[in-house]
Amino acid sequence: MSEYGRVRIVAVVGNPRAASRTHGIARTLAREMAAVLGAGEPGEVDLATLGSKVLEREDRDARAAVEEVLAADVLVVASPTYKATYSGLLKAFLDRIGTGGLHRTRAVPVLLGGAPDHRLAVDVHFTPLLLELGASVPARGLFVLESELDDFDVAAAAWARDARAALLAAS
Ligand SMILES: Cc1cc2nc3c(=O)[nH]c(=O)nc-3n(C[C@H](O)[C@H](O)[C@H](O)COP(=O)(O)O)c2cc1C
Repeated sequence: MSEYGRVRIVAVVGNPRAASRTHGIARTLAREMAAVLGAGEPGEVDLATLGSKVLEREDRDARAAVEEVLAADVLVVASPTYKATYSGLLKAFLDRIGTGGLHRTRAVPVLLGGAPDHRLAVDVHFTPLLLELGASVPARGLFVLESELDDFDVAAAAWARDARAALLAAS
């Protein structure tokens, strides 16, 4: 909980490119979740702004980004689908967090991709990474096809409504 006793949501965006569509869906989903959970304005960690700093152990910006993630109650962790899994940038960033480091965090994995046959990648590859970090993943992840982007705000609102009970029960 934040200092005001409200749920703290943070969106982590693993696209190496800034202002990506992946960033857009992460922001949309985080806002819809904030609405149903009564949370404040979500925070954002856009890894494109860190770039290779994610690999520099002592980098202040990368450390601050990890602190922001560790302070979240609920994480939206979004990545483009690369090679049927998440981006290397996201993995390098999450490698800064110790095993079990997210033990007090609920996480929602989100992949944006172009290939319908990679839809299961979010549950098969992405959720296990978050579980290894100790997060609880109380709802199924979202795989968003590029062809579904036009209606994503509607889908995000519906997903948030459906996931609300599971997200609250896991707190
Ligand atoms: C290096 C690379 C690998 C990709 N691999 C896949 C893939 O395996 N499956 C898939 O559905 N889309 C794949 N894509 C397509 C991206 O997932 C898609 O273009 C991206 O999610 C769009 O997000 P963005 O607009 O935020 O960059 C790949 C794209 C790139 C650049």
